[in-house]
Amino acid sequence: METKKTQVAIIGAGPSGLLLGLLLDKQGIDNIILERVTGDYVLGRIRAGVLEQGFAKLVREAGAADNMDMLGEVHEGVEISFNDEIIPINLKELTGESVIVYGQVDITKDMMQVRAKRGLETVYEANDVQPHDVKSDTPYITYEKDGVSYKLECDYIAGCDGFHGVSRQTIPEDVRTEYEKVYPFGWLGLMSDTKPINPELIYARTDRGFALASMRSQTRSRYYIQVPLEDTIEDWSDDAFWEEFRKRMPAGVRDNLITGPSIEKSIVPTRSFICEPLQYGNLFLVGDAGHIVPPTGAKGLNLAASDVATLYKIMIRIYKEGDKSCIEQYSPIALRRIWNGVRFSWWLTDLLHDFGDQKDEFDKKMETSEIEYFLKSEAGKKVIAEQYVGLPYEDLK
Ligand code: APR
Ligand code: PHB
Repeated sequence: METKKTQVAIIGAGPSGLLLGLLLDKQGIDNIILERVTGDYVLGRIRAGVLEQGFAKLVREAGAADNMDMLGEVHEGVEISFNDEIIPINLKELTGESVIVYGQVDITKDMMQVRAKRGLETVYEANDVQPHDVKSDTPYITYEKDGVSYKLECDYIAGCDGFHGVSRQTIPEDVRTEYEKVYPFGWLGLMSDTKPINPELIYARTDRGFALASMRSQTRSRYYIQVPLEDTIEDWSDDAFWEEFRKRMPAGVRDNLITGPSIEKSIVPTRSFICEPLQYGNLFLVGDAGHIVPPTGAKGLNLAASDVATLYKIMIRIYKEGDKSCIEQYSPIALRRIWNGVRFSWWLTDLLHDFGDQKDEFDKKMETSEIEYFLKSEAGKKVIAEQYVGLPYEDLK
């Protein structure tokens, strides 16, 4: 067995692990990332593309923002439609803030490239990654790469290994509480190299179900429709997708739809999931390893970023000031913001999707009334806008 050493061992080279690694490096804190698959495989996972300003600031601080600032589009508004009625939410006027539309794949690629350029170690295709002794002062990780077994000694372990990772399972079951809600539908997403249907994103509630018109750039569209859980990709030809998507766009916008061949098509289930606590000894859960939200509202990546921000502050305090007691602040600070994001994405999911017979006639009346109130009052729109641009990050005590 070969032995290596670092200060912070990071499991997972998704957005959480890469962002944390670059930030720590900026502070002179050593880190090594262990990733189960190849870099190309990581980049094959298409996900959301709306960044809160808090996230963008961190990427700048990490030194990986050149492309984001050059190619990302600043959006000062977002639209919600209810059948054919469009309600613009002017984020800038309501909150003074905006969001940046830039794909998760792009930001991940940018961070990978900066990491490689700085000569920081990332072990791709690391097998059997397993944290050990996380409650002790000498935690370590074992893994295997190209037939050789390794022991990676470290001070702290950041579990950035997503929902299916090993880190969360390292916290004993009697210490962990998991909260979960599974929604009765999936999102079918299609990417195409076509001009977006609308200048702003449209979250569309229709009698046929939910649809979202998003984009990656002025020449690349990203669209979604709510589909039954049982549906598979084979059930949806490109033509069938376009036909259904078109019907769910509001009249007046519908006719701007430009269709083209799909360059990616996938179905994601929708769920809310939260693990408490997020810290156990010297192990921290970051991003999807600790929580999942449905994509409505684009909070997944942004909540991962606020976890990173909190852990980053904790690591700075430990390594610069020698104050180890602050690690206990990670879980409560991260979870306060996570629960808020969970609540917002759950609420928006509830408001905009068709729940079929899970909702009775009374529930449907409540839904209509809620839409009327929130989308026709300035106060209601402001509540949505404030959540959409993201709440501020909390500082350590
Ligand atoms: N060992 C090493 N790496 C692992 C292991 C393991 N046992 N298990 C998973 N991984 C890797 C995965 O291959 C993946 O590259 O951890 C990475 C986790 O990345 P993500 O799932 O993207 O999670 P995260 O970085 O927290 O990003 C959060 O991405 O999933 C979206 O909606 C989510 O947008 C949010 C953001
Ligand atoms: C996306 O562009 O993929 C996207 C945007 C907003 C969401 C979800 C996904 O709420």
